[in-house]
Amino acid sequence: MPTDTAARSVRRARPVPIHRALPRLAREAAGALVKFAQEADGEIVRLELGPFRPYLVSHPDHVQQVMRLEWTNYQRVGMFWRPLERLFGHSVMSDGAHWRDSRKILQPLFTTRYIAAIADEVADRVAERIEEWDEHVRAGRSIDATAEMSGILSFIVNRVLFGDKLDRKDGERIIPAFDLASHSLVYRFLMPFMPYSIRVPRDRAFLRAVKQIDDVVFPVVRKAMVDTGDSPDLISMLCRFTDEKGDRLTERQIRDAMVSVYAAASETSAMIITWLWLLLDEHPEVAVRLQEEIDEVVGAGPARPEHIPHLRYTRMVLIETLRLYPSGWLLPRQVMEDAEIGGVRVKRGSTIFICPYATQRLEEFWERPHEFDPERFSPERSANGERRHRYAYFPFGGGPHKCLGEHLFYVEAPLVVASILSRFRVAIRTPGPFTLAWAASLRPKQKVELGVSFAGHDRNGVLR
Ligand code: HEM
Repeated sequence: MPTDTAARSVRRARPVPIHRALPRLAREAAGALVKFAQEADGEIVRLELGPFRPYLVSHPDHVQQVMRLEWTNYQRVGMFWRPLERLFGHSVMSDGAHWRDSRKILQPLFTTRYIAAIADEVADRVAERIEEWDEHVRAGRSIDATAEMSGILSFIVNRVLFGDKLDRKDGERIIPAFDLASHSLVYRFLMPFMPYSIRVPRDRAFLRAVKQIDDVVFPVVRKAMVDTGDSPDLISMLCRFTDEKGDRLTERQIRDAMVSVYAAASETSAMIITWLWLLLDEHPEVAVRLQEEIDEVVGAGPARPEHIPHLRYTRMVLIETLRLYPSGWLLPRQVMEDAEIGGVRVKRGSTIFICPYATQRLEEFWERPHEFDPERFSPERSANGERRHRYAYFPFGGGPHKCLGEHLFYVEAPLVVASILSRFRVAIRTPGPFTLAWAASLRPKQKVELGVSFAGHDRNGVLR
């Protein structure tokens, strides 16, 4: 429930005036939010952007209040979520009754037990896809990191969540469509107050992307509804599902669930692994240690599920990558009733920005916050009592909307990274610096080209 503010004095949020807020946000939004949060020492600030005046909430205590303790007062509705509705419909990526029902249906697919059961299939998929890199190496071709990582991740998602009901051609049509949708939302996000009757730049491109996605997904859904089978994948499960009244889901509901999970699952994970290649290139000492671990645990590869518990440093590297580049970098909420957060009044109907990218770089909670240092997450440091606020690190969100795919990520990502590095050596071919694109998930603006060569193991799997 919202805090009762009657008896206490509450302040207004500290404003960031438009002449400072707008140019910085337009230049690099995520970087600007880090600066505003840091300058305010984690206090709530209000970004004065003309008719749109969102609050930026970055202190872990305040994040916890919004995402967990009083989450019903901070919902995923309003100006920021409406544009997404055109893509996701009323699904797990919304709020209220639709979200609750959808989450209830999806949750059984994401248990540790279920993920353990499909881990072998994930590993097979990764191995199959990575073998194709041999061709690139022989031809001396570089690899486009974001496109290839998205390809690998969607190949996995398609198998384990969709039972291969999207064929590879469908997958290849759908990835650029999601890319286009993600990039085209920028102006709607920059002008969330603009009614849909008025076109904003890239609106047409966004609608085209939604149509391309629908052209692929609807026929797949229709076919699966006719032949529901007994496969444990997501589409089949959704097609078999009946509610308490015995009603089945509609074609539209199944399409919305599929599109939401596909978007949540592929691009987020693919971008983390893309950032990882860039970070390893900048930090050869981390790359060497990672390689040593993979050589020792996986040898000539490919990586299998039984290797995952032994890939401890790999996991630390992934955790730290998620700290610096959380793909879900902006989690907007609408205030449902007037409330108070950390002594600051927040008004009903206004927007709150929660930004893991900013909170995870706050100096108060992180030493050398912009440095890539996987050691922060070593078991030794935790054993020595190093503790941090639960909401100083939340790349997978928190509270009732917490990501359903965290566990799957920690199965697929080590398998992808370790399988690649057991077979190949990877170097960045494009000169930096790399900056952040303005997109729904955190991604580099520039194309990242990977140069790949064979790792050189002998026939017994020993590194030469
Ligand atoms: C590195 C990878 C990933 C990151 C960084 C990530 C991040 C997030 C975040 C921050 C949220 C919370 C959104 C909010 O509070 O508004 C979320 C929700 C969600 N994620 Fe992920 N995610 C990742 C991978 C996945 C995967 C692999 C799947 C599924 C296979 C998935 C499925 C979902 C779903 C269904 C939700 C909505 C949960 C709800 O609102 O009830 N995610 N994710």
